[in-house]
Amino acid sequence: MAGVRLEKIEKTYPNGFKAVHGIDLDIRDGEFMVLVGPSGCAKSTTLRMVAGLEEISGGKVLIGDRLVNDVEPKDRDIAMVFQNYALYPHMTVYKNMSWVLKLKKKPADEIDRRVRQAADILGLTDMLDRKPKQLSGGQMQRVAVGRAIVRSPKVFLFDEPLSNLDAKLRVQMRVEISRLHTKLKNTMIYVTHDQVEAMTMGDRICVMELGRIKQVDTPTNLYRYPANTFVAGFIGSPSMNIVSARLNFDGDTCYVDSQNLHLRIPDDIGKKVRQYDGKAIYFGIRPEHIHARETNPEAADNFFNMEVSVVENMGNEVYLYFTPGNSQYIARIDPDIPVRSGDSHEMWLDTNYIHLFDGETKENLIYKPKTQ
Ligand SMILES: Nc1ncnc2c1ncn2[C@@H]1O[C@H](COP(=O)(O)OP(=O)(O)OP(=O)(O)O)[C@@H](O)[C@H]1O
Ligand SMILES: [Mg+2]
Repeated sequence: MAGVRLEKIEKTYPNGFKAVHGIDLDIRDGEFMVLVGPSGCAKSTTLRMVAGLEEISGGKVLIGDRLVNDVEPKDRDIAMVFQNYALYPHMTVYKNMSWVLKLKKKPADEIDRRVRQAADILGLTDMLDRKPKQLSGGQMQRVAVGRAIVRSPKVFLFDEPLSNLDAKLRVQMRVEISRLHTKLKNTMIYVTHDQVEAMTMGDRICVMELGRIKQVDTPTNLYRYPANTFVAGFIGSPSMNIVSARLNFDGDTCYVDSQNLHLRIPDDIGKKVRQYDGKAIYFGIRPEHIHARETNPEAADNFFNMEVSVVENMGNEVYLYFTPGNSQYIARIDPDIPVRSGDSHEMWLDTNYIHLFDGETKENLIYKPKTQ
């Protein structure tokens, strides 16, 4: 087993486009690291440089302690699973899984042992004689994972392996891959644009935007302490409400003022942002921290009355949309509170959970993100 280290890696494609801008990332031995970000942020490019499928324009890739920049993909001790499973259609499941070992001229009994072991882990034992067209999408993806397992690589690389599956199967395979990681304990690097997959699977998550890393941390820390507005808006569903505002102090008391709100900020947070008095900022509040007034009738401040433009009932929770002026807020409330669209409803913001970001750099003003 081995960790993976990226040191200032860069990628410029032959057409001159710079896709990766000097990324540093330390993936620990045995860690499940997720690379997440919107389409085009260079997740695949980064993963493919680790795999050796894409030339590295600058910087270093190390697997374990070995510099692999110039090492052939097949000699890097990695196995990669792609979105399109790319199984050989004329071969049985058994042959699909054993093929690479045969190419490596492994002894027949070892091949058989490894294939049966992988099939057992993945619940494919009864399907070893089937051809790919006799399998469901989920089963095919499992064979693709099986093909990676039999190689017992130091590092597994996954590039959006579940995106061809329907929603239900995706959830099921997500759990299976997490279980596989618990069992095998290999280093795994998993690329997805789906923040739910990232949150549920990653030991740590690396959030990327336009070929740069925006933050690397555990799912909980990313959710609670986003380093900037990009991560704040990307992680969490529905997204965090992020609104431009101004910080104002009245004596030692800190207020956040925007178009429609005058929010009193708890003193312990106010103390940390004293030097931003009078400055333009962004404030962020997650939908679950905007409550219906009924839940806190005692609150003396931080409530507001707004017209509900849309009510989305999810069964276990309800999302309320407010669109005052040109801002939009989403609140997540209890389904037992009766609200209809068009109603004016009094809401309360819990500013203990407020996030404050610099108006220019968009970096978090309250929390210093952990460096790797
Ligand atoms: N061969 C290429 N030549 C030039 N530019 C490329 C090439 N391949 C990718 N790019 C560009 O590099 C950037 C990163 O692409 P990449 O495929 O790594 O993104 P991604 O994060 O994996 O996106 P997605 O979620 O859509 O798969 C994109 O702007 C893309 O257009
Ligand atoms: Mg991609």
